[in-house]
Amino acid sequence: MIVCLCHNVSTGDIAREAAGCCSFESLQEQTMVGMSCGACVSCARDTFHEHKADQPDSGESLVPAFLTQAAAHV
Ligand code: FES
Repeated sequence: MIVCLCHNVSTGDIAREAAGCCSFESLQEQTMVGMSCGACVSCARDTFHEHKADQPDSGESLVPAFLTQAAAHV
């Protein structure tokens, strides 16, 4: 299924790219998904996180970055 009409990005593309992307923003850099009209961002983000959750080590921390950065300065 095509998720992003502007950049012709499918759910399969997102699933495949999710393995090598540590964040949704990284996925956007790789595929351009959601970088034009933005109508697909919510669906694309959901699809990305569904596929990242399927991977044993997603590389994404559940702790927000600002908390880990703040803890490093304590
Ligand atoms: S549909 Fe994805 S940016 Fe327009």
